[in-house]
Amino acid sequence: MHKIDIELIEMTMDVMKYAIDRISHTKQKVGKPQKAEELKALVGETITPKGIGGEYAFNLWKQHLAKANVPVDHPRNLAFVPAAPTRAAVMFDLVTSVSSIHGAYWMEGAGGIFCENEAMKWIVSLTGLPEGAFGVFTSGGTAANLSAIVTAREHWREDETYKREKGLIITSIGAHSSIKAMAKVADVDIMLVDTEEKLTGSSLRETIDNLNFHQRKRLFAVVATGGTTNAGIIDDLEGIAQVCEKENIWFHVDAAYGGGALAADSVRHLFNGIERADSITIDPHKWMFSPYDCGAVIYKKPELAKNAHSQQGSYLDIFKDEGAHGFNPTDYQIQLTRRVRGLPLWFSLATHGTDKYKESVERGIELAQIAGKMIEENPNVELVREPSLSCVLYRRIGWKPEDYTHWTYENHNKGFALVTPTKWKNGDFYETVSRFCFINPDTTEEDIRMILDTMA
Ligand SMILES: Cc1ncc(COP(=O)(O)O)c(C=O)c1O
Repeated sequence: MHKIDIELIEMTMDVMKYAIDRISHTKQKVGKPQKAEELKALVGETITPKGIGGEYAFNLWKQHLAKANVPVDHPRNLAFVPAAPTRAAVMFDLVTSVSSIHGAYWMEGAGGIFCENEAMKWIVSLTGLPEGAFGVFTSGGTAANLSAIVTAREHWREDETYKREKGLIITSIGAHSSIKAMAKVADVDIMLVDTEEKLTGSSLRETIDNLNFHQRKRLFAVVATGGTTNAGIIDDLEGIAQVCEKENIWFHVDAAYGGGALAADSVRHLFNGIERADSITIDPHKWMFSPYDCGAVIYKKPELAKNAHSQQGSYLDIFKDEGAHGFNPTDYQIQLTRRVRGLPLWFSLATHGTDKYKESVERGIELAQIAGKMIEENPNVELVREPSLSCVLYRRIGWKPEDYTHWTYENHNKGFALVTPTKWKNGDFYETVSRFCFINPDTTEEDIRMILDTMA
């Protein structure tokens, strides 16, 4: 398995050809899922005692399996939060893999971690956090949010008074599902302010004032969102920061999706107050054009994360030696062994420069504005609310929830587009609506027009 022979050389060529084709392709199809039984019928038994051979397995991948995936970078994939990794970043993902770097400790991964840190410095500079703030790349926003919540909780519990208390965090119903899920993992309670619109400092104030004595004692963190997943709404970060500072509560900003927009001059002011956060989540694999998986967690005081996450073991003692000293990413988040997943982002940033990132993010915001105008001019549809960041919520007049579902599947099955419905809270009622999220700067006005035409 580990020898070099002619078969391996041929396979290397095949893989390179596939990678070149994929990287240079501009007209890929929106793939569609098939049932596991259908895929099994197409490819048969692939894991056998003797192996089926690389060439045969690779052909199965190309002919059947690759087609059952929806490329996240398809210009008409506007569902969830899509992605659009740059070609430079994708190429360097290959380099990252073939370099076999253990990215937990400087001792083993100094070169790769150095590059990650260069990219991280740029991301931190976008936040305006004070000198000393720094972060690490994680597997995504979920892991970043968990790492931040655990850091906050451990810091809070340094005080004897709270040692045996179950923590409580406040966020809004606009927060991403991962906040609720990660609160469960960290075994902390969560209180949701009932608004999907902007969470304001005053509603946070009111929520805190209404806590009973024990709840207030248990409250250790507030999570604001810098670009909600559903609608691109940025909470009142300034007002929330003020309350958190006054109450001495950890202030976390989940900007997993919206964080890329910190680079965009047109909307940067909406994030004012983020520089007062204790921790921030930003996902380069969303709006910073990095391939999966690449999230990031940034701390105002990284030493607090180190106190919470640094792992101890006799086999790890060598990393504390003087000769091994350097930045150890494992110390600041939940994962030990990790790939240097910030490396593709570094290469792309180094290749293109940060101005190109600014322009590409601005294009996503512009596409949302363009889509908003098209919707206003189209008698079949109407905006649910003004586009925010790169999200557009709109309704097809007269449609029931099942019409949206049917429409999504129809466009998906044709290999035309992936646009999925969501729900928007209107008073006590959740209305099913359609949603665009623009990330890929290659999406065109014509793409939007064609999608809206299928709603006629
Ligand atoms: C605001 C927000 N936070 C967290 C997440 C979770 O990120 P990930 O899927 O990278 O774990 C998302 C994903 O869409 C998100 O939009």
